[in-house]
Amino acid sequence: MSRTPIIAGNWKMHGSLTFVKEMMSELATMLPAKINYDVAVFPVYIHLHEVINTKPEQVWCGAQNLSEYDDGAVTGEVSGKMLADLGCDMVLVGHSERRVKSRESNAEVAKKFAQALKYGLTPVLCVGESLVERQSNQTFAVVWAQIQAVLSLIGVEQLGHGVIAYEPVWAIGTGETATAEQAQEVHQFIRSQLAAKDVTMARQIRLLYGGSCKGSNAFELFSMPDVDGGLIGGASLTAEDFMAICREAKKLMNETQSS
Ligand code: 13P
Repeated sequence: MSRTPIIAGNWKMHGSLTFVKEMMSELATMLPAKINYDVAVFPVYIHLHEVINTKPEQVWCGAQNLSEYDDGAVTGEVSGKMLADLGCDMVLVGHSERRVKSRESNAEVAKKFAQALKYGLTPVLCVGESLVERQSNQTFAVVWAQIQAVLSLIGVEQLGHGVIAYEPVWAIGTGETATAEQAQEVHQFIRSQLAAKDVTMARQIRLLYGGSCKGSNAFELFSMPDVDGGLIGGASLTAEDFMAICREAKKLMNETQSS
C-alpha cells in the first residue's frame, strides 16, 4: 500500500507577521496547484489566524500544542475546540521540546491526542529517544511507551486517525540526522508493533521522520519503506529550503507512481 507523504514544517517559536505573509505568498508562488504529497505548516498560536487566512489551499495549518482540557480556568492555554473553531487542520502533540522543557508526561500527551481527535483535528504524535537512551539501547522501549500511553487511553483504531512523527532528540536542531537505516529501523519497529494490534491501521498510518531533515537528505530518508515524509524544523523557515524538501517528496512519488 502506498501512503501519501506529508512534508510538515514546524516553525517552533520563530517568525513574525511579516514572515508569515512572505512565506505564504512565496509558497503560493512556488507550490504547484496539484501536488501528489501533503504539506502542512505549524506556526505559533498567534500566527495561526494569519496563516489560515493567507495560505494556499493545498497547505494545511496546524498548531504546535493544545490544552488537555475543553475550556475553563486554564490561563495561558488554548483548547482543541478553539483551534478547530479557528480553522486549524492539525496539531502537534508531545514534541520533545515540550516533553523536556514543559515536562509533559506520556499521560498528558495522550490526553492532548484525544482532545485533538474530539474536535476533528489530526494530531501528530511526536516520539523519540534522547542520546543517553539510544546509547543504553532504550530506543524501542522509550518510543513504545510514548505510543502505548495513547493506545491505553483511546485504542488502536483511534490512534490510526492521527500521524506519528519519530524525532530522535539527538538529531533535532543538531545538524546530525539519523541515517536512513536508523530511521527505518525505528519506523519499522513502530509499524510492526501496531500491526500486531491492527494490520490495516498499521499499513495506513503515516510515520514521519524529524531531526535535521533537509533537501540534501530528504530523498534518502523518504525512500525508506516505512518513512512517510518529514517533520521539518530549521529547514522549514525559508520557502526555498522547505520547497527543496517538497521537491524530493514529489520526485519520490513520481518514481513510485511510474514504477
Ligand atoms: P530540525 O529539523 O531543526 O532538526 O527540527 C526537527 C523538529 O523538531 C521538528 O519538529
